[in-house]
Amino acid sequence: MSIESLSSTLANLGIKDEIKSFEGSNPTGNPFDIFRSYIATELATVSEIPAETIYSCLETTSKVGNGDLILPVPRLRLKAKPADLAAQWAEKFPTSSLISQATSNGVFLQFFFNTKVLNNLVIPSILHEQKTYGTNKSGAGKKVIVEFSSPNIAKPFHAGHLRSTIIGSFLANLHEACGWDVVKMNYLGDWGKQFGLLAIGFEKYGTEEELKEDPIKHLYDVYVKINAAATAQEEEIKAAKEAAEKEGKTYEAPVTLHDEARAYFKKMEEGDEAAKAIWARFRDLSISKYVDTYSRLNVHYDVYSGESQVAPESMQKALEIMEEKGIVVKDEGAVLVDLTPYNKKLGKAIIQKKDGTTLYLTRDIGAAAERYEKYKFDKMIYVVASQQDLHLNQLFKILELMGYEWASKCVHINFGMVTGMSTRKGTAVFLDQILETAKENMHDVMKKNEVKYAQVEDPDYIADVVGISAVMVQDMAAKRINNYAFEWSRMLTFEGDTGPYLQYAHARLCSVERKSGYKSEDTMNSNYDLLVEQQASDLIRILAQYPDVVNTAMKTQEPSAIVTYLFKMSHVVSSCYDVLWVANQEPALATARLSLYLAARQVLSNGMELLGLKPVQRM
Ligand code: ARG
Repeated sequence: MSIESLSSTLANLGIKDEIKSFEGSNPTGNPFDIFRSYIATELATVSEIPAETIYSCLETTSKVGNGDLILPVPRLRLKAKPADLAAQWAEKFPTSSLISQATSNGVFLQFFFNTKVLNNLVIPSILHEQKTYGTNKSGAGKKVIVEFSSPNIAKPFHAGHLRSTIIGSFLANLHEACGWDVVKMNYLGDWGKQFGLLAIGFEKYGTEEELKEDPIKHLYDVYVKINAAATAQEEEIKAAKEAAEKEGKTYEAPVTLHDEARAYFKKMEEGDEAAKAIWARFRDLSISKYVDTYSRLNVHYDVYSGESQVAPESMQKALEIMEEKGIVVKDEGAVLVDLTPYNKKLGKAIIQKKDGTTLYLTRDIGAAAERYEKYKFDKMIYVVASQQDLHLNQLFKILELMGYEWASKCVHINFGMVTGMSTRKGTAVFLDQILETAKENMHDVMKKNEVKYAQVEDPDYIADVVGISAVMVQDMAAKRINNYAFEWSRMLTFEGDTGPYLQYAHARLCSVERKSGYKSEDTMNSNYDLLVEQQASDLIRILAQYPDVVNTAMKTQEPSAIVTYLFKMSHVVSSCYDVLWVANQEPALATARLSLYLAARQVLSNGMELLGLKPVQRM
């Protein structure tokens, strides 16, 4: 909505007051901000407190009976007794067409919105804004890199990667919704001695056909085999050595697979063309497979970077800077940074091994500097499991010690562990296995209701989308830092706070429109004054809160803020169905109610898409 159309809407509602704008306010996109502005302006006159201060202290409430917005007076930090001030101000506050009542309740000053005004502002604004309802421009002109998922080639895709994918994709969407320019980056674990082993393994066990067929799986299989062979060999050597020593003979150790792997990796690090070419192929094929699998999750990357992509020069330069700043020490040929003077817990971090090769941390240092050079980001988010808290704290501290002013722009968004993530074939190893199991299990659940199942047009697609929603919502339902147990039976039910429940709620709202006999155009000029029932008011209130909920999620970087809200909102919608009928009602009433349901569907769909879900029309 534009400022002009907002003013004319307000004028039609008999509101002539100028809606002042405040730091962070968004009156054209967030209906609550209109009320906030009004309250702040009026209360400033009454209390002689600056309107900006009041504006920033107004809070939403979770119970309708407590008012729509409250001012906890102690937040103003004044000398007088908060309860007295609340009482005084409540008395003096002018009620108007926007605020029907201002009352004090202890130290709180409670403001109640004029429901009619709220109805007339919120529904048209949602129906007009559609997909942009709930978005804002707070991040306009700013760039963020969100690095997430970042699995390791030839290794299992474990729960940590799954959570990083789900949470990271949400954070990328959230920043986009707040106007940021977002670069989505996948930083593959594709470098290190183990890849020397993999290359040797491929010569022994790999085939071109299998590699083309399913590169991720094949490389993993090869890696498992060569690893087993290398371990077996080590044991043989150990036994042979012991036997030889027993007999007093000297034992001459052969060149082992691990030795070969080390040598191969050294070649890779030195930029040997042939070694690099083989490696590039493994990597490219794996990426093209990942692109397909991620798209089932609605995830599309701007950049597939990875440890192998960090230029040796960047790491060399980093080492030089560290030497210049005097933060490195040499320890038997290895190079390390002692971080204990800054924080004991950070310990000593190795930057370069004795043989001159780099480490995970070294590559992260080089990568961060390259990224800043290239993108000049305003923020960079690493979405990585809390097991790596130490690693990222070391990284950030080192970047700071190197004198990079942008070090403070790096953020680690961490999360807890998942237990029991298994699939039909045993423990999950690959992302597509997890998604396939989600789909199959969902399909089984759907088949249990034969009548309904027969009506689903494309059960395979629905099972895929809804099954994936189940996995994702389970992951985002609680605070990130919590651990949780991966439980198929719980996440797949249509009851309780699950992904299938949200999908069902959305599909049901779609069916309200289909069954109504009206089209969305018919609702355009509805008479919202007809929405007098308590259920309608409750729903409109909660719909009005959505833009605030997006802001809260942005502050806390918690997907659960959105998930919790969507459940609450869906529950309010479902209590409307008993009372607010659309079918067989007078056209004026039917279309007014339908417009409310359409608004609810829009908000549900916006919230689900923000989470990375694909809302279904029927199921
Ligand atoms: N590949 C790593 C792992 O699987 C995660 C990478 C996290 N990102 C980073 N910049 N270190 O453990």
